[in-house]
Amino acid sequence: MKTFTLNKLMASAAVCMVALSGAASADPHPDAELIIEGELNVKVRAEPAAHLDGAVPEIYSGWLFRTDETRSLQMDDFENPAMLGVEAGQDAWNTVEGAAGKSCADCHGDAAESMKGVRAVMPKVNDNGDLWSTEDYVNNCRTERMEADALKWNSGDLNNMVAYISVQSRGMPVAVQIDGEAEPFWERGKDMYYTRFGQLELSCASCHEENYGMNIRADHLSQGQINGFPTYRLKQGKLISTHNRFRGCIRDTRAESFAMGSQEFRELELYVASRGLGLDTEGVAVRN
Ligand code: HEC
Ligand code: HEC
Repeated sequence: MKTFTLNKLMASAAVCMVALSGAASADPHPDAELIIEGELNVKVRAEPAAHLDGAVPEIYSGWLFRTDETRSLQMDDFENPAMLGVEAGQDAWNTVEGAAGKSCADCHGDAAESMKGVRAVMPKVNDNGDLWSTEDYVNNCRTERMEADALKWNSGDLNNMVAYISVQSRGMPVAVQIDGEAEPFWERGKDMYYTRFGQLELSCASCHEENYGMNIRADHLSQGQINGFPTYRLKQGKLISTHNRFRGCIRDTRAESFAMGSQEFRELELYVASRGLGLDTEGVAVRN
């Protein structure tokens, strides 16, 4: 079946430009288990959610597609470079900012309690019926409740705060809501996932659903899951946000991308998160 879909892709001009190679394999590291600090077992492979309707036989975290070296970085908090961002986020959590003279901790107390499980359900619909990502909730508290400035999407400060919030859900199952009020957002995100972009006419699915396991430009193609975000990219030497990764992938298809923090990306984020239902939240991950 893999060969069939690959042939289909080869028939298009796209493949000449992206040069896929290697054999698509199922589980790239069948024996690998993500156990953090020797005690927290994080689920990195699972049965696909029913809504995927058999599109993939099993779902895998991007962690499984990385080298032994990169994978081991994420198993040890001292080695995991993303933990520096988490620490910076923790400092910011306790720091008073803005005209209201408040810190996050003044209202939310200990993040280990108040933020537990929050990242696992993001993005989610807020009280006004808007779909918000974790970043939006943070910025809303800053502007409306602290009278401080909003932080820029994908800035170090915002990624650090999201990392600190995410780590409180580490090891908890991804639990985004996709029905009810979330459904219209989810449907639009799904449409976008299957839309072909750019000169190469590739959709997210062309790479992450039909060809995961293949090599592309010396990179091992994963299923493009977001349970590990924000993610520390070794290549960039810093934490990056989900929307930054989306933008990079769309640019690789030589298309104009959407802005980070755009409605399109929030919807795509909800849909991509739902493809990871069954996996555990890894925040914060290490990737190449
Ligand atoms: C003046 C009090 C106050 C301050 C200061 C404050 N928040 Fe909030 N925050 C709230 C309230 C109230 C809500 C909405 C109710 C809730 O979910 O707890 C909220 C919601 C949130 C949520 C969404 C939680 C969820 O489950 O939906 C996040 C994330 C969050 N705040 C993060 C922060 C961060 C990070 C800071 C500091 C930069 C901060 N907040 C500062 C009062 C505050
Ligand atoms: C031309 C192929 C290609 C297309 C099209 C593509 N990506 Fe990617 N994507 C990659 C490669 C290569 C990587 C890096 C290796 C990996 O993790 O798969 C990557 C990585 C990712 C990651 C990081 C996964 C992790 O575990 O850290 C996410 C998330 C992602 N892509 C989402 C998307 C989304 C959403 C789309 C559609 C808007 C998309 N990609 C389109 C090639 C592609």
